[in-house]
Amino acid sequence: MTIDRLDELYPPHLQAVMKRTDSALAAAGFDALVIHAGAPITLFLDDHDYPFKTNPHFKAWVPLPNHPHCVLIYRPGAKPTVLFHRPEDYWHKPPDLPVGTWTREIELITIATHDEAAQHWRRVGRAALIGPPAVFGDAAPASVNPADLLTRLHFDRAVKTGYELECMRRASELGARGHRAALRAFRAGASEYEVHMRFLEACAQREEEMPYNNIVAYNENAAVLHYQHLARSAPADLRSFLIDAGAQYRGYACDITRTHAAGPGRFADLIARMDDAQQTMCALIRSGTDYREVHLSAHRIIGDVLHDAGILKVGGQSALESGATSVFFPHGIGHLLGLQVHDVGGVMADAAGHERARPEGHPYLRLTRMLEPGVVVTVEPGVYWIDSLLKTAAADSRRPLIDWELVDQLRPFGGIRIEDDVAATAADPENLTRNAFVRIEA
Ligand code: GLY
Ligand code: MN
Ligand code: MN
Repeated sequence: MTIDRLDELYPPHLQAVMKRTDSALAAAGFDALVIHAGAPITLFLDDHDYPFKTNPHFKAWVPLPNHPHCVLIYRPGAKPTVLFHRPEDYWHKPPDLPVGTWTREIELITIATHDEAAQHWRRVGRAALIGPPAVFGDAAPASVNPADLLTRLHFDRAVKTGYELECMRRASELGARGHRAALRAFRAGASEYEVHMRFLEACAQREEEMPYNNIVAYNENAAVLHYQHLARSAPADLRSFLIDAGAQYRGYACDITRTHAAGPGRFADLIARMDDAQQTMCALIRSGTDYREVHLSAHRIIGDVLHDAGILKVGGQSALESGATSVFFPHGIGHLLGLQVHDVGGVMADAAGHERARPEGHPYLRLTRMLEPGVVVTVEPGVYWIDSLLKTAAADSRRPLIDWELVDQLRPFGGIRIEDDVAATAADPENLTRNAFVRIEA
Protein backbone atom coordinates (compact mmCIF):
# COMPACT_ATOMS: atom_id res chain seq x y z
CA MET A 1 0.00 0.00 0.00
CA THR A 2 1.39 3.42 -0.89
CA ILE A 3 1.37 6.06 1.80
CA ASP A 4 0.24 9.45 0.62
CA ARG A 5 2.30 12.27 2.13
CA LEU A 6 -0.92 14.20 2.62
CA ASP A 7 -2.04 11.57 5.14
CA GLU A 8 0.91 12.56 7.32
CA LEU A 9 0.53 16.27 6.68
CA TYR A 10 -3.19 16.50 7.41
CA PRO A 11 -3.17 15.97 11.24
CA PRO A 12 -0.66 18.81 11.88
CA HIS A 13 -2.61 20.96 9.41
CA LEU A 14 -5.80 20.39 11.35
CA GLN A 15 -3.98 21.12 14.62
CA ALA A 16 -2.76 24.43 13.16
CA VAL A 17 -6.25 25.38 12.00
CA MET A 18 -7.62 24.49 15.47
CA LYS A 19 -4.95 26.57 17.20
CA ARG A 20 -5.67 29.60 15.04
CA THR A 21 -9.37 29.14 15.64
CA ASP A 22 -8.91 28.85 19.42
CA SER A 23 -7.21 32.27 19.51
CA ALA A 24 -9.69 33.84 17.11
CA LEU A 25 -12.70 32.55 19.06
CA ALA A 26 -11.25 33.74 22.38
CA ALA A 27 -10.49 37.20 20.96
CA ALA A 28 -13.92 37.53 19.39
CA GLY A 29 -15.78 36.20 22.46
CA PHE A 30 -17.28 32.96 21.11
CA ASP A 31 -17.21 29.43 22.55
CA ALA A 32 -17.54 27.46 19.33
CA LEU A 33 -17.52 27.61 15.57
CA VAL A 34 -20.09 26.30 13.10
CA ILE A 35 -19.10 26.35 9.42
CA HIS A 36 -21.68 25.57 6.78
CA ALA A 37 -20.31 24.36 3.43
CA GLY A 38 -23.10 26.24 1.67
CA ALA A 39 -26.12 25.25 -0.40
CA PRO A 40 -26.52 25.23 -4.19
CA ILE A 41 -28.34 28.23 -5.64
CA THR A 42 -31.29 27.45 -7.91
CA LEU A 43 -31.76 29.31 -11.20
CA PHE A 44 -34.55 31.85 -11.46
CA LEU A 45 -37.79 30.21 -12.70
CA ASP A 46 -36.09 26.87 -12.99
CA ASP A 47 -35.48 23.70 -11.00
CA HIS A 48 -31.76 23.18 -11.31
CA ASP A 49 -28.76 24.84 -9.74
CA TYR A 50 -25.74 26.97 -10.57
CA PRO A 51 -22.43 25.12 -10.16
CA PHE A 52 -21.82 24.74 -6.45
CA LYS A 53 -18.86 26.57 -4.91
CA THR A 54 -18.00 25.57 -1.36
CA ASN A 55 -17.54 28.05 1.47
CA PRO A 56 -13.72 28.32 1.58
CA HIS A 57 -13.75 28.24 5.41
CA PHE A 58 -15.20 24.75 5.23
CA LYS A 59 -12.54 23.52 2.78
CA ALA A 60 -9.85 24.84 5.14
CA TRP A 61 -10.81 22.18 7.69
CA VAL A 62 -11.70 19.11 5.66
CA PRO A 63 -10.99 17.93 2.11
CA LEU A 64 -14.64 17.94 1.08
CA PRO A 65 -14.56 20.50 -1.73
CA ASN A 66 -17.87 19.58 -3.35
CA HIS A 67 -20.22 18.68 -0.50
CA PRO A 68 -23.12 21.08 -0.12
CA HIS A 69 -25.12 21.13 3.15
CA CYS A 70 -22.29 19.61 5.20
CA VAL A 71 -21.48 21.41 8.44
CA LEU A 72 -18.41 21.51 10.63
CA ILE A 73 -18.73 22.09 14.36
CA TYR A 74 -15.73 22.88 16.52
CA ARG A 75 -15.45 23.51 20.23
CA PRO A 76 -11.95 24.29 21.52
CA GLY A 77 -10.51 21.22 23.21
CA ALA A 78 -12.75 18.75 21.36
CA LYS A 79 -12.42 16.83 18.11
CA PRO A 80 -14.09 18.67 15.23
CA THR A 81 -17.39 17.17 14.09
CA VAL A 82 -18.53 16.99 10.49
CA LEU A 83 -22.25 16.68 9.90
CA PHE A 84 -22.11 14.80 6.62
CA HIS A 85 -25.13 15.42 4.44
CA ARG A 86 -26.47 12.26 2.78
CA PRO A 87 -30.05 12.86 1.79
CA GLU A 88 -32.57 10.22 0.73
CA ASP A 89 -32.75 11.26 -2.91
CA TYR A 90 -33.61 9.25 -5.97
CA TRP A 91 -33.00 12.21 -8.32
CA HIS A 92 -29.36 12.57 -7.37
CA LYS A 93 -26.71 10.20 -6.12
CA PRO A 94 -25.92 10.99 -2.48
CA PRO A 95 -22.19 11.39 -1.80
CA ASP A 96 -20.22 8.39 -0.58
CA LEU A 97 -19.06 8.53 3.01
CA PRO A 98 -15.46 9.73 3.12
CA VAL A 99 -12.94 6.99 3.84
CA GLY A 100 -9.49 8.66 3.85
CA THR A 101 -7.21 8.43 6.87
CA TRP A 102 -8.01 12.10 7.54
CA THR A 103 -11.44 11.01 8.79
CA ARG A 104 -9.71 9.61 11.92
CA GLU A 105 -9.13 13.16 13.02
CA ILE A 106 -12.81 14.10 13.08
CA GLU A 107 -16.16 12.82 14.33
CA LEU A 108 -18.43 12.06 11.39
CA ILE A 109 -22.19 12.21 11.86
CA THR A 110 -24.43 11.47 8.92
CA ILE A 111 -27.45 13.74 8.51
CA ALA A 112 -30.22 13.55 5.93
CA THR A 113 -31.77 16.99 6.11
CA HIS A 114 -30.94 20.61 6.69
CA ASP A 115 -33.23 20.64 9.77
CA GLU A 116 -31.29 17.79 11.29
CA ALA A 117 -28.08 19.78 10.87
CA ALA A 118 -29.72 22.85 12.41
CA GLN A 119 -30.76 20.81 15.46
CA HIS A 120 -27.09 19.94 16.01
CA TRP A 121 -25.68 23.44 15.67
CA ARG A 122 -28.45 25.07 17.74
CA ARG A 123 -27.35 22.91 20.67
CA VAL A 124 -23.83 24.36 20.53
CA GLY A 125 -23.31 27.18 23.08
CA ARG A 126 -22.20 30.67 22.03
CA ALA A 127 -21.22 29.71 18.50
CA ALA A 128 -20.11 31.86 15.62
CA LEU A 129 -21.81 30.71 12.43
CA ILE A 130 -19.80 31.03 9.20
CA GLY A 131 -21.33 30.59 5.79
CA PRO A 132 -23.78 32.13 3.34
CA PRO A 133 -26.26 33.86 5.73
CA ALA A 134 -29.37 32.30 4.16
CA VAL A 135 -28.41 28.82 5.41
CA PHE A 136 -28.61 29.97 9.03
CA GLY A 137 -32.28 31.02 8.81
CA ASP A 138 -33.31 33.19 11.76
CA ALA A 139 -30.07 32.86 13.78
CA ALA A 140 -29.09 35.99 15.74
CA PRO A 141 -27.41 38.30 13.19
CA ALA A 142 -24.51 39.04 15.56
CA SER A 143 -23.53 35.37 15.49
CA VAL A 144 -23.51 35.06 11.68
CA ASN A 145 -20.15 35.84 10.08
CA PRO A 146 -18.97 38.13 12.89
CA ALA A 147 -16.48 40.55 11.33
CA ASP A 148 -13.78 40.46 14.00
CA LEU A 149 -13.66 36.66 13.98
CA LEU A 150 -13.54 36.52 10.19
CA THR A 151 -10.74 39.09 9.93
CA ARG A 152 -8.61 37.04 12.33
CA LEU A 153 -9.19 33.83 10.41
CA HIS A 154 -8.60 35.58 7.08
CA PHE A 155 -5.37 37.15 8.24
CA ASP A 156 -4.00 33.80 9.45
CA ARG A 157 -5.05 31.95 6.31
CA ALA A 158 -2.38 33.65 4.18
CA VAL A 159 0.27 31.45 5.82
CA LYS A 160 -0.07 27.95 4.41
CA THR A 161 0.56 24.77 6.39
CA GLY A 162 2.76 21.99 4.97
CA TYR A 163 -0.42 20.16 3.94
CA GLU A 164 -1.74 23.17 2.07
CA LEU A 165 1.57 23.71 0.27
CA GLU A 166 1.54 20.08 -0.83
CA CYS A 167 -2.05 20.43 -2.12
CA MET A 168 -0.95 23.51 -4.05
CA ARG A 169 2.06 21.67 -5.51
CA ARG A 170 -0.34 19.01 -6.78
CA ALA A 171 -2.76 21.60 -8.16
CA SER A 172 0.22 23.19 -9.93
CA GLU A 173 1.16 19.87 -11.47
CA LEU A 174 -2.35 19.41 -12.84
CA GLY A 175 -2.27 22.98 -14.17
CA ALA A 176 1.12 22.40 -15.81
CA ARG A 177 -0.26 19.31 -17.56
CA GLY A 178 -3.17 21.39 -18.82
CA HIS A 179 -0.83 24.10 -20.10
CA ARG A 180 1.36 21.57 -21.88
CA ALA A 181 -1.67 20.08 -23.65
CA ALA A 182 -2.99 23.56 -24.48
CA LEU A 183 0.29 24.57 -26.11
CA ARG A 184 0.28 21.42 -28.22
CA ALA A 185 -3.26 22.16 -29.35
CA PHE A 186 -2.37 25.77 -30.21
CA ARG A 187 0.61 24.57 -32.26
CA ALA A 188 -1.70 22.15 -34.08
CA GLY A 189 -4.05 24.98 -35.12
CA ALA A 190 -6.84 24.44 -32.58
CA SER A 191 -9.42 27.15 -31.81
CA GLU A 192 -9.65 28.89 -28.41
CA TYR A 193 -12.53 26.55 -27.55
CA GLU A 194 -10.59 23.45 -28.53
CA VAL A 195 -7.57 24.58 -26.52
CA HIS A 196 -9.85 25.01 -23.50
CA MET A 197 -11.22 21.48 -23.95
CA ARG A 198 -7.71 20.00 -24.24
CA PHE A 199 -6.75 21.84 -21.05
CA LEU A 200 -9.66 20.34 -19.10
CA GLU A 201 -8.95 16.88 -20.43
CA ALA A 202 -5.27 17.04 -19.46
CA CYS A 203 -6.15 18.13 -15.90
CA ALA A 204 -9.02 15.61 -15.77
CA GLN A 205 -11.26 18.31 -14.32
CA ARG A 206 -14.68 19.56 -15.35
CA GLU A 207 -15.13 23.18 -16.25
CA GLU A 208 -17.02 23.82 -13.02
CA GLU A 209 -14.09 22.45 -11.02
CA MET A 210 -11.73 25.08 -12.40
CA PRO A 211 -10.74 27.61 -9.71
CA TYR A 212 -11.67 30.41 -12.18
CA ASN A 213 -12.84 30.69 -15.76
CA ASN A 214 -10.08 29.78 -18.18
CA ILE A 215 -8.78 32.66 -20.28
CA VAL A 216 -7.76 31.42 -23.72
CA ALA A 217 -7.04 34.41 -25.93
CA TYR A 218 -5.66 34.59 -29.45
CA ASN A 219 -4.28 37.75 -31.09
CA GLU A 220 -5.99 41.01 -29.99
CA ASN A 221 -8.13 39.08 -27.48
CA ALA A 222 -5.02 38.82 -25.31
CA ALA A 223 -5.39 42.56 -24.62
CA VAL A 224 -8.61 41.86 -22.67
CA LEU A 225 -7.43 41.10 -19.14
CA HIS A 226 -10.26 38.72 -18.26
CA TYR A 227 -11.25 37.71 -21.82
CA GLN A 228 -14.27 35.45 -21.36
CA HIS A 229 -15.13 34.02 -24.79
CA LEU A 230 -13.90 30.87 -26.44
CA ALA A 231 -14.00 31.36 -30.21
CA ARG A 232 -15.05 28.17 -31.97
CA SER A 233 -12.73 28.65 -34.94
CA ALA A 234 -9.09 29.64 -35.12
CA PRO A 235 -8.29 32.90 -36.91
CA ALA A 236 -6.66 32.54 -40.33
CA ASP A 237 -3.75 34.69 -39.19
CA LEU A 238 -2.77 33.29 -35.81
CA ARG A 239 -0.11 35.45 -34.16
CA SER A 240 -0.25 35.02 -30.38
CA PHE A 241 -1.75 32.90 -27.63
CA LEU A 242 -2.29 33.89 -23.99
CA ILE A 243 -3.65 31.25 -21.62
CA ASP A 244 -4.48 31.95 -17.97
CA ALA A 245 -5.82 28.70 -16.56
CA GLY A 246 -5.55 26.82 -13.29
CA ALA A 247 -6.69 23.66 -11.59
CA GLN A 248 -7.45 22.60 -8.06
CA TYR A 249 -6.45 19.83 -5.72
CA ARG A 250 -8.52 19.12 -2.59
CA GLY A 251 -9.98 22.61 -2.93
CA TYR A 252 -6.63 24.45 -3.33
CA ALA A 253 -5.97 26.40 -6.50
CA CYS A 254 -3.15 27.11 -8.87
CA ASP A 255 -3.24 30.16 -11.15
CA ILE A 256 -0.93 29.97 -14.15
CA THR A 257 -0.51 32.14 -17.25
CA ARG A 258 1.70 31.58 -20.26
CA THR A 259 1.98 33.51 -23.52
CA HIS A 260 3.24 32.02 -26.78
CA ALA A 261 4.06 33.46 -30.17
CA ALA A 262 2.99 31.72 -33.37
CA GLY A 263 6.39 32.41 -34.89
CA PRO A 264 9.71 34.22 -34.36
CA GLY A 265 10.02 38.01 -34.41
CA ARG A 266 9.65 41.09 -32.23
CA PHE A 267 6.74 39.68 -30.22
CA ALA A 268 8.50 36.37 -29.51
CA ASP A 269 11.59 38.34 -28.41
CA LEU A 270 9.48 40.42 -26.06
CA ILE A 271 7.99 37.26 -24.51
CA ALA A 272 11.53 36.02 -23.82
CA ARG A 273 12.47 39.33 -22.16
CA MET A 274 9.28 39.29 -20.09
CA ASP A 275 10.00 35.74 -19.01
CA ASP A 276 13.44 36.75 -17.71
CA ALA A 277 11.92 39.80 -16.03
CA GLN A 278 9.22 37.66 -14.42
CA GLN A 279 11.83 35.36 -12.90
CA THR A 280 13.68 38.36 -11.50
CA MET A 281 10.40 39.38 -9.84
CA CYS A 282 9.78 35.86 -8.49
CA ALA A 283 13.15 36.08 -6.73
CA LEU A 284 11.77 39.04 -4.72
CA ILE A 285 9.22 36.84 -2.92
CA ARG A 286 11.05 36.68 0.38
CA SER A 287 10.04 36.72 4.01
CA GLY A 288 10.24 40.27 5.39
CA THR A 289 9.54 41.91 2.01
CA ASP A 290 6.66 44.35 1.59
CA TYR A 291 4.64 43.09 -1.39
CA ARG A 292 3.90 46.69 -2.39
CA GLU A 293 7.63 46.99 -3.08
CA VAL A 294 7.45 43.90 -5.30
CA HIS A 295 4.70 45.64 -7.27
CA LEU A 296 6.66 48.88 -7.64
CA SER A 297 9.85 46.98 -8.55
CA ALA A 298 7.84 45.13 -11.19
CA HIS A 299 6.89 48.48 -12.72
CA ARG A 300 10.54 49.54 -12.84
CA ILE A 301 11.60 46.22 -14.36
CA ILE A 302 8.81 46.36 -16.96
CA GLY A 303 9.80 49.96 -17.67
CA ASP A 304 13.31 48.73 -18.46
CA VAL A 305 12.02 45.89 -20.65
CA LEU A 306 9.85 48.32 -22.65
CA HIS A 307 12.71 50.80 -22.87
CA ASP A 308 15.12 48.13 -24.16
CA ALA A 309 12.52 47.02 -26.69
CA GLY A 310 12.19 50.62 -27.91
CA ILE A 311 8.51 50.94 -26.93
CA LEU A 312 9.21 53.45 -24.14
CA LYS A 313 11.68 56.29 -24.45
CA VAL A 314 12.40 56.22 -20.71
CA GLY A 315 12.95 53.22 -18.47
CA GLY A 316 12.85 52.16 -14.82
CA GLN A 317 12.03 54.78 -12.23
CA SER A 318 11.05 57.54 -14.69
CA ALA A 319 8.72 55.17 -16.54
CA LEU A 320 7.06 54.36 -13.20
CA GLU A 321 6.86 57.98 -12.00
CA SER A 322 5.45 59.30 -15.27
CA GLY A 323 2.72 56.64 -15.27
CA ALA A 324 4.07 55.31 -18.58
CA THR A 325 4.33 51.71 -17.34
CA SER A 326 0.68 51.77 -16.22
CA VAL A 327 -0.41 52.22 -19.84
CA PHE A 328 0.97 48.76 -20.59
CA PHE A 329 0.76 47.10 -17.16
CA PRO A 330 -2.54 48.23 -15.62
CA HIS A 331 -3.11 45.50 -13.01
CA GLY A 332 -1.41 44.43 -9.80
CA ILE A 333 1.66 42.20 -9.84
CA GLY A 334 -0.27 39.50 -8.00
CA HIS A 335 -2.41 38.36 -5.10
CA LEU A 336 -2.74 35.79 -2.35
CA LEU A 337 -3.62 32.30 -3.53
CA GLY A 338 -5.01 29.24 -1.78
CA LEU A 339 -8.57 28.15 -1.13
CA GLN A 340 -9.69 30.91 -3.49
CA VAL A 341 -7.87 32.15 -6.54
CA HIS A 342 -7.92 35.69 -5.17
CA ASP A 343 -7.63 34.67 -1.56
CA VAL A 344 -9.00 36.88 1.19
CA GLY A 345 -6.94 39.08 3.49
CA GLY A 346 -4.69 40.65 0.85
CA VAL A 347 -4.68 44.18 2.21
CA MET A 348 -4.65 43.40 5.94
CA ALA A 349 -1.99 44.85 8.24
CA ASP A 350 -2.83 42.62 11.20
CA ALA A 351 -5.33 40.12 12.58
CA ALA A 352 -7.41 42.93 14.09
CA GLY A 353 -8.39 44.06 10.61
CA HIS A 354 -6.32 47.20 10.05
CA GLU A 355 -5.46 47.71 6.41
CA ARG A 356 -2.27 48.51 4.54
CA ALA A 357 -2.91 51.11 1.87
CA ARG A 358 -2.21 50.51 -1.79
CA PRO A 359 0.48 52.71 -3.30
CA GLU A 360 -0.98 55.93 -4.69
CA GLY A 361 -2.04 55.47 -8.32
CA HIS A 362 -2.20 51.65 -8.07
CA PRO A 363 -5.85 50.94 -7.22
CA TYR A 364 -5.91 47.39 -8.59
CA LEU A 365 -3.18 45.93 -6.41
CA ARG A 366 -4.86 43.15 -4.42
CA LEU A 367 -2.01 42.46 -2.00
CA THR A 368 -0.19 44.95 0.23
CA ARG A 369 1.03 42.67 3.03
CA MET A 370 4.44 41.82 4.40
CA LEU A 371 5.58 38.43 3.17
CA GLU A 372 6.43 35.66 5.63
CA PRO A 373 7.30 31.96 5.30
CA GLY A 374 4.34 29.97 3.98
CA VAL A 375 2.60 32.86 2.22
CA VAL A 376 1.76 31.90 -1.38
CA VAL A 377 1.35 34.66 -3.94
CA THR A 378 1.14 34.99 -7.68
CA VAL A 379 3.72 36.92 -9.69
CA GLU A 380 2.06 37.92 -12.93
CA PRO A 381 3.61 40.80 -14.82
CA GLY A 382 2.01 41.73 -18.11
CA VAL A 383 2.28 44.15 -20.99
CA TYR A 384 -0.74 44.72 -23.20
CA TRP A 385 -1.79 46.97 -26.04
CA ILE A 386 -5.20 48.08 -24.75
CA ASP A 387 -6.94 50.59 -27.04
CA SER A 388 -8.65 52.63 -24.31
CA LEU A 389 -5.47 53.05 -22.23
CA LEU A 390 -3.36 53.89 -25.30
CA LYS A 391 -5.94 56.46 -26.38
CA THR A 392 -5.76 58.17 -22.98
CA ALA A 393 -1.95 58.15 -22.98
CA ALA A 394 -1.85 59.54 -26.53
CA ALA A 395 -3.79 62.56 -25.28
CA ASP A 396 -1.78 63.29 -22.12
CA SER A 397 1.76 63.94 -20.94
CA ARG A 398 2.82 60.36 -21.75
CA ARG A 399 2.44 60.85 -25.50
CA PRO A 400 6.12 61.76 -26.12
CA LEU A 401 7.35 58.83 -23.98
CA ILE A 402 5.94 56.15 -26.28
CA ASP A 403 7.02 54.95 -29.73
CA TRP A 404 3.59 54.86 -31.38
CA GLU A 405 4.74 53.19 -34.55
CA LEU A 406 6.07 50.26 -32.59
CA VAL A 407 2.87 50.16 -30.56
CA ASP A 408 0.90 49.86 -33.79
CA GLN A 409 3.11 47.00 -34.93
CA LEU A 410 2.49 45.15 -31.68
CA ARG A 411 -1.25 45.81 -31.20
CA PRO A 412 -2.29 42.78 -33.32
CA PHE A 413 -0.56 40.51 -30.76
CA GLY A 414 -2.78 41.70 -27.87
CA GLY A 415 -0.44 41.28 -24.95
CA ILE A 416 1.79 39.14 -22.78
CA ARG A 417 1.25 37.85 -19.25
CA ILE A 418 3.41 35.31 -17.46
CA GLU A 419 2.14 34.09 -14.11
CA ASP A 420 3.68 31.76 -11.54
CA ASP A 421 2.62 30.83 -8.01
CA VAL A 422 5.41 31.37 -5.52
CA ALA A 423 5.72 30.49 -1.82
CA ALA A 424 7.84 32.63 0.48
CA THR A 425 9.99 30.45 2.75
CA ALA A 426 12.58 31.03 5.46
CA ALA A 427 15.18 31.00 2.67
CA ASP A 428 14.81 31.05 -1.14
CA PRO A 429 11.34 31.29 -2.66
CA GLU A 430 9.68 28.09 -3.87
CA ASN A 431 8.26 28.51 -7.36
CA LEU A 432 5.38 26.02 -7.35
CA THR A 433 4.65 26.57 -11.04
CA ARG A 434 8.12 26.26 -12.57
CA ASN A 435 8.85 23.26 -10.36
CA ALA A 436 5.64 21.60 -11.55
CA PHE A 437 6.57 22.09 -15.23
CA VAL A 438 9.96 20.50 -14.51
CA ARG A 439 8.33 17.56 -12.66
CA ILE A 440 5.91 16.72 -15.47
CA GLU A 441 8.73 16.65 -18.02
CA ALA A 442 10.96 14.44 -15.83
N1 GLY B 1 -6.65 34.23 -13.24
C1 GLY B 1 -6.94 35.45 -12.61
C2 GLY B 1 -5.72 36.10 -12.14
O1 GLY B 1 -4.66 35.84 -12.63
O2 GLY B 1 -5.73 36.84 -11.20
MN1 MN C 1 -3.58 35.61 -10.75
MN1 MN D 1 -4.26 34.04 -13.61
